[in-house]
Amino acid sequence: MATIALYSNKGGVGKTAAAVNLAYLAAESGASTLLCDLDAQGSSTFYFRVQPGIKRKARGLVKESKKVFDSIKATDYPSLDLLPADFSHRRLDIEYAERKKPTERLAKALEPLRSAYDYLILDCPPTINLLAENIFTTTDVLLAPIIPTPLSLLAHRQLLDFLDEHGYHAARVYAFFSMVDGRKRLHRDLIAEARQSYRHVLQTSIPYLTHVEQMGVHRAPVGVFAGASPAAAAYRALWAEVRRLPNSPTLPG
Ligand SMILES: Nc1ncnc2c1ncn2[C@@H]1O[C@H](COP(=O)(O)OP(=O)(O)OP(=O)(O)O)[C@@H](O)[C@H]1O
Ligand SMILES: [Mg+2]
Repeated sequence: MATIALYSNKGGVGKTAAAVNLAYLAAESGASTLLCDLDAQGSSTFYFRVQPGIKRKARGLVKESKKVFDSIKATDYPSLDLLPADFSHRRLDIEYAERKKPTERLAKALEPLRSAYDYLILDCPPTINLLAENIFTTTDVLLAPIIPTPLSLLAHRQLLDFLDEHGYHAARVYAFFSMVDGRKRLHRDLIAEARQSYRHVLQTSIPYLTHVEQMGVHRAPVGVFAGASPAAAAYRALWAEVRRLPNSPTLPG
């Protein structure tokens, strides 16, 4: 079992778009996959046409309990389940702060799911709080989308510094560029610079493409309604690269 988080401390960078498409591709390859929507906004939940809401509210992600299975919903796709968002997820960090070993609560809560799925894919909110520390503790591979702008790169630097300062294993963090417009000189230059100054920048970039935006209209991964599109090809390339990552020996397949 491998846990992969789509995480960034910056909002609106393409975390949810990647989480939805990578979860779909993992399941399509035959691996049993659970997408966990940790963001109270519920965007992944929306894309999969599932009603938000977990049983017994945030306790499902606070305590280790088999009851977490009661909240899981099937999606329209084989091998792909969803743990939906819940409005109470906005308070998860406060719930964790009140408990022992506060940075290990999410790992504990997800424990019963580990033997049930090949992949847990976490769609994370853009915060760098105690929930984020729980995410760092529990993930095998943290995928961080970066838009090629100075502010998005600054946020990534802040993330790497935070991980170093707090003793998290930054080697598991892989950045990839998102919403790239190859016609823009600024994008090309910033990507080239970042490849020199940051370790672990994936080769695959996700271009800025209308089919990704249209996921909100179709409420489906791009592979479902535009399988032959460049957007679908970009996420397939990203998934292929993630599966080959050297320091993620637990990735199945
Ligand atoms: N490659 C892309 N091309 C075009 N639009 C994109 C692309 N990726 C994401 N978008 C659009 O940008 C917006 C933000 O994307 P998304 O919701 O995936 O970001 P996020 O990082 O999950 O945001 P948040 O921090 O709010 O959770 C959405 O409207 C989405 O449709
Ligand atoms: Mg999101």
